[in-house]
Parts: sequence; structure tokens; C-alpha cells
Amino acid sequence: MADTLTLDRPDDWHLHLRDGDRLADTVAASSRVFGRAIVMPNLRPPVATVDAAVAYRERILQVRPSGSRFEPLMTLYLTPGTSPAEIRKAIAHPDVHAVKLYPAGATTNADAGVTDLAACADVFEAMAKGGLPLLIHGESIAPGDDVFDREGIFVRDTLAPLVERFPTLRVVLEHITTQDAVRFVESAPAHVAATITAHHLLYDRNEIFRGGVRPHMYCLPVLKRAQHREALVAAATGGNPKFFLGTDSAPHAQRDKESACGCAGVYTAHAAVEFYAEAFDEVGALDRLEGFASHHGPDFYGLPRNTDRIRLRRVSQPVPATLPLGDTELVPLRGGESVAWVVEQD
Ligand code: DOR
Ligand code: ZN
Repeated sequence: MADTLTLDRPDDWHLHLRDGDRLADTVAASSRVFGRAIVMPNLRPPVATVDAAVAYRERILQVRPSGSRFEPLMTLYLTPGTSPAEIRKAIAHPDVHAVKLYPAGATTNADAGVTDLAACADVFEAMAKGGLPLLIHGESIAPGDDVFDREGIFVRDTLAPLVERFPTLRVVLEHITTQDAVRFVESAPAHVAATITAHHLLYDRNEIFRGGVRPHMYCLPVLKRAQHREALVAAATGGNPKFFLGTDSAPHAQRDKESACGCAGVYTAHAAVEFYAEAFDEVGALDRLEGFASHHGPDFYGLPRNTDRIRLRRVSQPVPATLPLGDTELVPLRGGESVAWVVEQD
């Protein structure tokens, strides 16, 4: 088995960078390897207008490490107040690449999201007409729904009817976690795709409870049972262009995770491509990593593939127990342990 692997430079099609004094750390981590990233809009207040997205992009560019060409691709947060006119403005703007749908309250900073999809019909029509993708956090929000079933319920009761009602709307089901989602995306039209995180490829739900409660393994959608992880690995490594890399790297302060009501989110930006390489290597599919990490995403978004390359080497690297996050610290995935690959910088 080769110990080095060269790939066209990958992009991250689902990323949380946050804002303020945290931005310099998150942007430095992701720009180390990724050429571009789809930047999530779940700030407080949400990034709900083109003007807010443009201003946020400027703040990101201001903290980009010198020499970096990292490109933030901005998204709008869909609220009940989003107008078709704002969507048309987004379609015409070169820096806005998608609209994010959070079912209200489904996850971190999702309270400004949507409860009634039927009320958004004119917005979806405008998006379909202009080819602007709808990125979906696919979990049901009915209080009685079991947390492990929410993705499957959403796919069956909300996503399937949505795709049928708006047959030309471009859709990315974000951070999929179940066999149900894999099957839905596989059987949907070509303009319906999905992102998959590294942590959902590497871990199942047992990891949340290994030897005690591990808050740093808690994210939404929550890790699922082994059979679902296996379906995700098969989808990611199967060569199907509908599946591509989206880390959902979601930084939270250590104190906010290690609390009586810990926040959802796993931080992987410090070694994201390295984690994906582990997952692909585990099933002997390293030859499929480049398609998943570097080609399928830009092809779906209608953007050019990156033209430079990165080199990975299979050599164990320690992961720091904590990393800086503005004026505080976070615990990264595998903190205090190691990762089996490293991206070599020239
Ligand atoms: O675990 C998660 N964290 N899931 C999300 O959907 C949001 C994210 C965050 O922003 O922290
Ligand atoms: Zn996310």
C-alpha cells in the first residue's frame, strides 16, 4: 500500500467558521488544506441577507493567513422572512452560492429557521429558476420524534415531498448520517446530492458513551448505529458524484461542550482531510478519495476544480489536547491522541 497520496486540492462543502475573535483560528485551520469552503450562516444574528453575507465574507478575508488563496463561498440563512427578491439578489451575486434551511430549533443557532416549508414556496421557485442550491439540515423537529430517528423521518415526510414538489430545485442534504438518507439521495435525480462528515465516517454512536459520556462526540445529527456508518462509508467511497466532502467542523469552547447541557458540534478542521484519508484507507478505497474530496463538490456547484495539488503521507501525528479559539480553547477531534496521516506542506 502506497504511503503517500497526491490529490487535487480539496474543498470543504460545509463549514462553520463563527465570527469575531474566533475567526482567525478557524480560518487558519481550514485554509491550511482546503481551497474553498461553503460557509454556514448560523451566526447570531443569522446571515440572512446578501449584504450580511458580503460583510461576513470580508471579515473572513481580513483574517486569511498571508499568502493564502482560501475562498469563502457564502450562504444565506433561510428565515420565514426571506423574500423571493432577496433570493434573486443572491442569484445575481457572485459570492453567494447557496441558501441554508434549518428546521427551526433543530441545532445550534437554528431558532431563526423555518417551521412551515409550504410558506417558502415562492422562495423555492425563485431558487429553482436561478439554479441556487438549497442546503438542508435534514432532521424533523417534532418534540416527540426520537433523536436517532429524526433524519429518517425528515427524509420521508419532508424531503421526499419537497423534491417532488420542486423537481428542478438543486438540493444538498447536509451531513447525512443514515442508510435512509443514502438510499434517498441515490434514488433521487442528479441535482440532489449530499455531504458526509469525517466523524460520521469514522465513528458510530457507541463512541458517545465509550467509558462514560463524551460530550466532544456529540453533534447533530447525532452519530448513529454501526449499520448506518457502514452505509455512509459505502456511499462516500463508492465513486458516486452525488456524495462529497463537507466536514461540518463546528468549533465550540471547551466549557460550552463540557457542561450540563453541552453544545452540539465536533471540530475536525485541524486534520480534516487526514481523517477522511483514515476512513477511506480503512476500506482500501484511497483511490476514491480525490473524487469525493476534490471533484464531486465543484462539479455539483458548477465551479472549476482546483488546479493545484496536496500531498498526504501515512505517518502518525499527535493531535494537541486543546487548540486556541479566540480568547478560549476547544477540544479537537482526537485531542490528546493521534491521526494516521499528515498533509505535507512544501
Ligand atoms: O453538531 C452540529 N453543530 N450540528 C449542526 O448542525 C450545527 C453545528 C454548529 O453550528 O455548532
Ligand atoms: Zn453544520
